Amino acid sequence: MERIVLAYSGGLDTSVAVKWLMDRYDAEIVAVTIDLGQGKELDDVRERALAVGAVRAHVVDAREEFVRDYILPALQAGAVYEGHYPLATALGRPLIAQKLVEIAEMEDAGSIAHGCTGKGNDQVRMDVSARALNPSINVVAPARVWGMTRPEEIEYARTHGIPVPASVDSPYSTDSNLWGRSIECGVLEDPWTEPPEEIYALTRSPAEAPDDPAYVELEFERGVPKAVNGVAMPLTELINSLETIAGAHGVGRIDMVENRLVGIKSREIYEAPAAVVLHAAHRALEALVVPRDLERLKTDLARRYADLVYDGLWFTPLREALDAFTAKVQEQVTGEVRLRLLKGDCRVVGRKSPLALYEPALATYDEGDRFDHAAAEGFIRIWGLPVETAASRSAGRRAPAPAGVSRDE
Ligand code: ARG
Repeated sequence: MERIVLAYSGGLDTSVAVKWLMDRYDAEIVAVTIDLGQGKELDDVRERALAVGAVRAHVVDAREEFVRDYILPALQAGAVYEGHYPLATALGRPLIAQKLVEIAEMEDAGSIAHGCTGKGNDQVRMDVSARALNPSINVVAPARVWGMTRPEEIEYARTHGIPVPASVDSPYSTDSNLWGRSIECGVLEDPWTEPPEEIYALTRSPAEAPDDPAYVELEFERGVPKAVNGVAMPLTELINSLETIAGAHGVGRIDMVENRLVGIKSREIYEAPAAVVLHAAHRALEALVVPRDLERLKTDLARRYADLVYDGLWFTPLREALDAFTAKVQEQVTGEVRLRLLKGDCRVVGRKSPLALYEPALATYDEGDRFDHAAAEGFIRIWGLPVETAASRSAGRRAPAPAGVSRDE
């Protein structure tokens, strides 16, 4: 008998998929749920998988791995898609695919399956990642094949005795993990409509947030966040505690229209309180310690990194090479950043580092200034020489003599 390892979330699609795959392929289904920090969605997910007909159901806690091998490199690379989206879902998919492939190999299954639809980015990330890890594995995406509408799926569930999850009553489609949460569908599909308050789960409305600011001091060591307000903690815990503090102050709500890889523009709402704070802090610290030319290149490559994560290219030489570049830069990223959280606003208000390239004696306008003001003149003369030359030409005048050379009248 054929065996298929299915990524099971406990929602309607994957619940229907268990039965549909069994019938369609005459296969037994092994359900796998990967814990990436989605919280209460995991409650009795194992029991539900077995109840809908899976022969076995595994729940794999991959939170540490997610934080260490996916979130941290993306944070250090500055990976934020199209300027706003910190890529929570996009970073989770390659890890889910990796676990599915591992379990398929252990279970001696020839196929893996997932609940992604045919018009999203997630299917691309899942399929490409799985093939990168095991090119001979077969990938099935029932929701891309069965052609059922949502009401038809509910009908299918009823007629096949599949318990319909309570989440079907929600008009929204959500996905969440440690790095953030996404909300789609319903009224949100109109990009002109303001998101209703009810869609949010991690953030308080900025209007209802405390009137007094919260200050957060974040310590980084070689690009790794180590402590919040002087308390050292593992990164998973640090992300959780930032989510709580920032969420309470209404920080981390994102409302954008983004370009999907499959050619569609879509309106997306995200909540990513910890990611927003950590990216702001990390960027501010790099600004203090990284030389200008390197910072420029890092910024350019951050966009490439965000795109590759978004586009499902995690398991590629491109990502590995960019990680190596990023790791080199992180050697300098040690220090502290102070942020003020107030009614949805997250602002860096202080930064310091033993490796700072900021030099008070050069920067100051007060006493103790060691900057050579006189040297500026010669520098500017040569810096502006091409501009001056072109300006003289177009004015029909003769070119100036090179700086430092006197003109013969
Ligand atoms: N637009 C985001 C992305 O492409 C969020 C996708 C949410 N996925 C989901 N299955 N609900 O990464």
